[in-house]
Amino acid sequence: MILLFIIIGIIKSNAPGTLSCITYLSEQLCEEPGYCIWNGTTCQDYTQNQDCYRINEVGACRENGIYSSIGGSGLCEPLIKLENDYKNVCGITNIVDYNYVRYPIITTGFSTHSLAGQTVAQLKMSAPQQNFIYQVLSVNIQIAKNPDLQIILDLYKTYEAELVKVYIHPYQIEKALIQTLQNLRDDTTPLSPVDKQATMTKFWTLVDVYLKRLQIHKKNYQSYNYFLNFLQGSFSRLYLTIKGQGHMITISWSKYKKNGLIQIISYSPKLVGILNALSDIIFVNVLGEDRTSFTDIENMKISYVQESGTLTNIVRKLKFISDKTQIPHQLMTYTINSAICNSNERECEFSFPSPLSNSTFVFYVEQ
Ligand SMILES: *[C@@H]1O[C@H](CO)[C@@H](O)[C@H](O)[C@H]1NC(C)=O
Ligand SMILES: *[C@@H]1O[C@H](CO)[C@@H](O)[C@H](O)[C@H]1NC(C)=O
Repeated sequence: MILLFIIIGIIKSNAPGTLSCITYLSEQLCEEPGYCIWNGTTCQDYTQNQDCYRINEVGACRENGIYSSIGGSGLCEPLIKLENDYKNVCGITNIVDYNYVRYPIITTGFSTHSLAGQTVAQLKMSAPQQNFIYQVLSVNIQIAKNPDLQIILDLYKTYEAELVKVYIHPYQIEKALIQTLQNLRDDTTPLSPVDKQATMTKFWTLVDVYLKRLQIHKKNYQSYNYFLNFLQGSFSRLYLTIKGQGHMITISWSKYKKNGLIQIISYSPKLVGILNALSDIIFVNVLGEDRTSFTDIENMKISYVQESGTLTNIVRKLKFISDKTQIPHQLMTYTINSAICNSNERECEFSFPSPLSNSTFVFYVEQ
């Protein structure tokens, strides 16, 4: 009987997420439970609530868990809703923050080789050949350390001529873009601003390849992935709606001289160091039917609608990005003021110069 209590006692004290991380003495043991961080010599508890999204063990955030308000420091909350497409189980609040959604890391393959065993350097030398493209796509971006990540992004660029062909689905490039941002965001090695900027520059170079591929895909297209979303629509639709967490942005226009496409990429502001945004960051690219830059669009308006809560009836600003390769993003002094936001509809409206002065721009709605 006593033995039984002892056994129960041991099992109970080992309930997932209840042991302090300091008790794990090697890197492997430290990583196994899914709620600790190895600093090179010791296994440590997370101490900042911005790290709650990194936790894999929900027990650590629930009652008696080491991060719960009842069991411990009150650092993290278990999420109310768990989805299969992301790994997050804890947050600062009990709702998943789209800025920090983690897609599962698939560990198949290598970050330095294709699945068939060619090195990234060999693939680069063979570029761009159709018979190598699926090997390029099989190089694992998710497990790459930053130097390898940058080399993989260079490799994609050398295969541009193949990537923009119809036999490659746009999703193949989207996947690389999503995995790149997640990799950069979740990297626990301290990256220099230079490496961050180099990675972002390569990210945007690949975005250009993606946008070329999308132009020959369906005219109207969308792909939502929490922190990085892709949209394309033809001028004839007269508006495009971009969903973000707790808000929607509608871009509308009334007249256009010829047909064309509007391409949009929206992404999470916190990922690029912007902390005062109400909306996602929105990249807009306007193309004429000949697929070159186009500005002859009249009365372009942006409407921002917040789904719930309160939105005070003040004038708000659209802020524009001057350098989207830097983290944090650099801002222009140029802004567009809204009319006074409507607190009943929780809506703000902004008007662009008409016709447009730029065919490509990046903006967000400031708090
Ligand atoms: C890891 O944490 C321990 C305990 O706080 C500390 O003594 C050690 O210097 C840290 N190591 C590194 C590489 O930061
Ligand atoms: C529009 O393009 C000009 C010329 O490239 C640039 O100086 C300006 O900052 C751009 N404005 C916006 C809002 O992107």
